[in-house]
Amino acid sequence: MSVPLLFNLFEMNTVGHISHGLWTHPHNNRHRYTDLDFWTAEAKLLEEGLFDAVFLADVIGAYDGYRDGPETALREAVQIPNNDPLLLIPAMAAVTKHLGFVATFSTTYEPPFAFARRASTLDHLTKGRFGWNVVTSYLPNAARNFGLDDELDHAERYDRAHEYLDVLYKLWEGSWDDDAVVRDVANRVYTDSSKVRPIDHAGKYFRVAGPHLSEPSLQRTPVIYQAGSSTTGRDFAATHAEAVFVGGSSLEDFRNTIDDIHRRGEVVGRPRGSIKTLASAVLIAGRTREAAQEKAKEFERMSSAEGYLAHAGGGSGIDLAAYPPETRISDIRSTGGRDAATTSRYAPGVTVGDALRDVTRFDRGPFYAVGTGTDIADAIESWVEKTGIDGFNLRQFTSPGTVEDFVEYVVPELQTRGLYRLAYEPGTLRERLFGAGIPRLQSTHPGARYRGGAALF
Ligand SMILES: Cc1cc2nc3c(=O)[nH]c(=O)nc-3n(C[C@H](O)[C@H](O)[C@H](O)COP(=O)(O)O)c2cc1C
Repeated sequence: MSVPLLFNLFEMNTVGHISHGLWTHPHNNRHRYTDLDFWTAEAKLLEEGLFDAVFLADVIGAYDGYRDGPETALREAVQIPNNDPLLLIPAMAAVTKHLGFVATFSTTYEPPFAFARRASTLDHLTKGRFGWNVVTSYLPNAARNFGLDDELDHAERYDRAHEYLDVLYKLWEGSWDDDAVVRDVANRVYTDSSKVRPIDHAGKYFRVAGPHLSEPSLQRTPVIYQAGSSTTGRDFAATHAEAVFVGGSSLEDFRNTIDDIHRRGEVVGRPRGSIKTLASAVLIAGRTREAAQEKAKEFERMSSAEGYLAHAGGGSGIDLAAYPPETRISDIRSTGGRDAATTSRYAPGVTVGDALRDVTRFDRGPFYAVGTGTDIADAIESWVEKTGIDGFNLRQFTSPGTVEDFVEYVVPELQTRGLYRLAYEPGTLRERLFGAGIPRLQSTHPGARYRGGAALF
C-alpha cells in the first residue's frame, strides 16, 4: 500500500459514464459536460480536495450490442454523446498546479506517431502532470468506425499494443537528448542536431522514421496506467504499467490479483514498489449514516436498468426489459424461445423485476461503503490492510455532489489517520506516485532502455 493513499476521480467526457440513469437527478450537472466551465470548476474542486488526478475513461464507438442497435445507449446517455478526453486537459491544467490528468487512448486504431506528439504536448503544457491509460478498445462499433469489419482478435490487439508502446518509448525516451535544445543565439543554433536522432522503427505493425517532433517534456513518457484483466492483459500491465486497475469480486480476489500483478512484474525485472494498484470505489458519504443511506437509496431508485443492460451489450442475452416485472424466469424458460436459452444465470423463482434491480446494484464489489466520514474511512482502512491496494478511483453518482461529499466528509477523516495528504508536494505526477526525484521512468521499466539513443538500432 501507499501512504498517502492514491485517489483519482473516475471521469469521462460524457453525460453517463458508469452510473446510468442519474443524469435525471435534479442536482446532477452532467449535461454540462460540453461546457468548459464544468471542467475547470471540477479541476479546482479536485485540487482543493487534494486529489492525485482526474482519470478520464474513453470509448470510440457506440454501445450497440443491446437490442441490436445504439438506440438504448442514446436514449439513456450511456457513454454517448461523448467528447475527446485529451482536449479537456490544457483547460483543467490552466486553473490548477498539482492535479494530475490521466486520459484513456487506444493503441488499436490510430498510429503511434501522432499520439506521441499529442502526449508530449500535454506533458509540456501540464508541466509533467500527464498520465496515459492504455487500452486496446473493446467495442465492435469502434472497429467499424476505423475501417475494420470487426474487432481485432484479443491476442492481436495486445501484440499490436506492445509494438505501439515500443515505438512510443523510442520517440519519447530515445529520440532527443535532454541537452539537445541549446538556444544558442550567438552561434544561431536552436537545437544541436547531433543530439537528436531518428528511430527508424520497422516492425510488424508500424514503420516510423522519426525524429520525434517534440522536445523532451518533464516526464518524457507519461505515467502509464492500464487495466488488463486477462492473462495477456496482466502480462501487458506487468511489463508496461506504472499503475494498474485491478478488478475482483471479494477482498481475497483483489489480494490475489494484486499479488499476481506484482509477481508478473518481478518476472520481467520490475520490483514490487514500481507498480501501483488501484480499483474503483463506491463511497457514498453523508453528514449522518441515515442521510448517506437515504442518498444511496435515491441513487438506486433513479438508476436505469436498461442503461446498464446497454452498457453490458446485452450481457445475459435475455432482454429483461421486454418482460413485465412480475414475470418469473421459470415462465421465460417454459416458452422455449430464444430468451429461454439464456436464463441459466438466474434461479427459476426470480422475477424479471428482481433481476433488473440486480443489474442496477452498485454494491457488487467489496469497495462499497455508505455512511459518515468515519464509517467510510474505517472501511477504506480495512480494505487497504486486507488487500495491499495503493488507492482508488472514486465513482461518481452526481457531479459535483459526489466529490463535494467526499471532500467534506471523508477526506478530513482520512487525513487524521495519516492516509491522505495534508498538502501537495511539488513535482510531476510520476513523483507523486513514486517519490521526489523520479520524474522519469524508473530504470527497470522497459522504456528506459532507449535513453540516450541506446538500444535504438
Ligand atoms: C477501471 C477500469 C477502467 C477502464 N477504462 C476503460 C476505458 O476507458 N476505455 C476502454 O476502452 N476500456 C477500459 N477498460 C477496459 C480495459 O482496458 C480492459 O479491456 C478490460 O479490463 C479487460 O481486460 P483484457 O483486455 O485484458 O481482457 C477499463 C477497465 C477498468 C477495470
